[in-house]
Amino acid sequence: MLMRQLFDQETFTYTYLIADPKTGEAALIDPVAGQVERDLGVLKDLELELKAALDTHVHADHITGAGLLRERTGCRTVASIAGAECVDLHVEDGDVVTVGNLAIEVIATPGHTDDSVSYLVGNHVFTGDALFVRGTGRTDFQNGDAGDLYQSITEKLFALPDETMVWPGHDYRGHTVTTIGEEKRHNPRIAGKSLAEFKAIMEGLNLPRPRHLDRAVPANRECGLGLAEGDPHATEFSDLETTDAMSFVAEQAATIVDVREPHEFVGELGHVEGAENVPLSEIAQAALDWRFDQPLLFVCRSGRRSRGVCDQLVKRGFRNVVNLRDGMLGYRKATSL
Ligand SMILES: [Fe+2]
Repeated sequence: MLMRQLFDQETFTYTYLIADPKTGEAALIDPVAGQVERDLGVLKDLELELKAALDTHVHADHITGAGLLRERTGCRTVASIAGAECVDLHVEDGDVVTVGNLAIEVIATPGHTDDSVSYLVGNHVFTGDALFVRGTGRTDFQNGDAGDLYQSITEKLFALPDETMVWPGHDYRGHTVTTIGEEKRHNPRIAGKSLAEFKAIMEGLNLPRPRHLDRAVPANRECGLGLAEGDPHATEFSDLETTDAMSFVAEQAATIVDVREPHEFVGELGHVEGAENVPLSEIAQAALDWRFDQPLLFVCRSGRRSRGVCDQLVKRGFRNVVNLRDGMLGYRKATSL
């Protein structure tokens, strides 16, 4: 098996690329929306064809890249039967997903969330947020249950051979990989601990509520924020000409978001002064930090991509969204007169 471990610094998330080098078929486990371009770049460099995007669970801290990857590559999206409804293939304990000659075996490992699964490929197990290096996922939100997690780890994951390589969904302290045997001996939360002791540890963690919980979970249930082109007749946001759009910015101190790719942002047409560049694939993640009542102006080249973004955002509950109708083309025309 060919494998790459990829990291998202913003959410401390590991994404795994696994592939069958013989057939060139590949899968991504826990892709992050804002890293889709990176992932597609690695696939291209290694001449691999993406066949599946698998999520270990409905994430609360980042937006899955599965939906975007499906749009871009036609790959299948895969998740637990208890997870996101939007996926192409729902799996449960014991199922096997085949990618080339790789057999990806599903092990239900609920506890962090009720839909959590681990994926076993040969002697590598991708544990999502069930088992970390010297840690575990939290169990205090989103149908989490410490008793279930204890059972998942001690009875299912620890039943794997000691030499099984464990690839976690996150790490916050610089670890990358561990083994089942190592965690059985050294995991401070669970090694040698009784169920009661484990529950007491989990209850005592007092972790802050995930910043993005309320928005990331509903978005991920739909495979991430789909940024297909919006309905041109959507009326819930304003579609304004340059002059009116600029008055909106001035009057409401709106945030100007340019959704073009970075090379376009600095290209021939330039950009509106003060605009921040958030390419399409990163909008879903960035939107987690915007207030629902925040005045936002979206800009692209012709007004089409930004219209799609506006359409999606109003559906998500954003209430003060404006599209620059003719994009930078209209803006240049209007400001050169
Ligand atoms: Fe999680």
